Amino acid sequence: MEIRVTGEDADSSEEVMLIYQAALRQMETKLAVLNEEFKMVHKYNPIEHITSRVKKSESIAKKLRRHGYDVTLENMVKYCNDIAGVRVICSFTSDIYRIADMISNQSDIRVLAIKDYIASPKPSGYRSYHMIVMIPVYLSDRIVDTKAEIQIRTMAMNFWATVEHSLQYKYKHGIPEHIRERLYNSAEAILTLDNEMSQIREEIMDSQNSFNIKANIIAEILNSIENLYAYANSREIVKIQDEFFKIYSENDSDKLERFSKELDIVAEGYRAQKL
Ligand code: GTP
Ligand code: MG
Repeated sequence: MEIRVTGEDADSSEEVMLIYQAALRQMETKLAVLNEEFKMVHKYNPIEHITSRVKKSESIAKKLRRHGYDVTLENMVKYCNDIAGVRVICSFTSDIYRIADMISNQSDIRVLAIKDYIASPKPSGYRSYHMIVMIPVYLSDRIVDTKAEIQIRTMAMNFWATVEHSLQYKYKHGIPEHIRERLYNSAEAILTLDNEMSQIREEIMDSQNSFNIKANIIAEILNSIENLYAYANSREIVKIQDEFFKIYSENDSDKLERFSKELDIVAEGYRAQKL
């Protein structure tokens, strides 16, 4: 029989921590598998790297008190969504949404909440994509549905968040206004940087694409010419080859494409004559 529970009825904080640690391991494995699969299909890694942590019990207690809850195991599990935290760092903004979709599509993961601080940045300038998910942890006698927070962001967003976070610690009474303003402006610069990198990448992919298309046409033409040797005489083939070299030197995909089609018709004609 399947006994399915949430962690609220755990016996000890040790057991709770073990469950959250297990949830993190599963999330990390899932993400690693998705990354490997993506790499195989699309020839690049959407994930640059992953970090994870279980929140320290002092931080959990502090957060509960801040929200007016007693510090009990039950309240921890119920009200603290980020005890298990995974951070996924990508190169490009579009990768963030790809990763988020892949996570949502996993049948054993339930998405409880999403905060898209990329579409709607925080007033500080903070950008990141947050998901609270529920993931099952399999113990010897029961399955524990466990919450985890996933933060997905680019390397540039992560750089900003890390620096800003450490400044929050430096200024115990809050970051002074003029520094906050500069941090906000830096966040805007980060956005520009991410956009620029995405555009550069797209342009490279486009030119790589058109290079591949051209390479395929040329391979087809060379193959057709080779096949012609069985039907046409060598003077005619030399003429066709000269024509090909002329078009090839012009470096125009459309002309190459047209030549390839014409060549097919010519080859068809020769084949018909031979029959
Ligand atoms: P807590 O902020 O954890 O109390 O929870 P919340 O319900 O407000 O969630 P939210 O999505 O706002 O923030 C969750 C986490 O995102 C935080 O614990 C931080 O790790 C990160 N975060 C949110 N806002 C900022 C920010 O302005 N700067 C930085 N550096 N990190 C932020
Ligand atoms: Mg917050």
